[in-house]
Amino acid sequence: MIANLTDMQGIIAALLVFDMARVADIADQLAGRGKFVSTLEFLPGEVRKRHGKVVDIATELAAAARAGDENAVAMKVSTVLMECSSCHYNLRDAERRKEMENK
Ligand code: HEC
Repeated sequence: MIANLTDMQGIIAALLVFDMARVADIADQLAGRGKFVSTLEFLPGEVRKRHGKVVDIATELAAAARAGDENAVAMKVSTVLMECSSCHYNLRDAERRKEMENK
């Protein structure tokens, strides 16, 4: 969802000006939203589980920011992005992807 994208943009912008407190705040927000989504019973189990995964990584990202470890933050940003795109690849856009591959 668009709020997740906004959070990732905010985290990257804050990382690039070494504002670790802001990185941690936004990562907390990302984790909080993921936690909420992962409890929504009407969503398929796989979608809930994968949002739970985002929560775990966002929590680690916040911890890395609180520790002031910029390299670890950058690595966790990448790990979050891999989780976003693997879900979009396998669940969200699976049909569209098949069409692209058949062209
Ligand atoms: C569990 C699977 C899953 C994960 C993980 C996931 N997404 Fe999505 N995302 C979706 C689905 C499904 C949609 C389409 C939802 C809809 O149309 O309501 C979507 C839609 C979006 C959109 C389109 C805008 C919108 O509101 O429809 C953006 C941008 C987006 N996601 C970004 C992200 C980012 C950034 C992350 C990682 C922090 C992420 N997503 C993680 C499944 C996921």
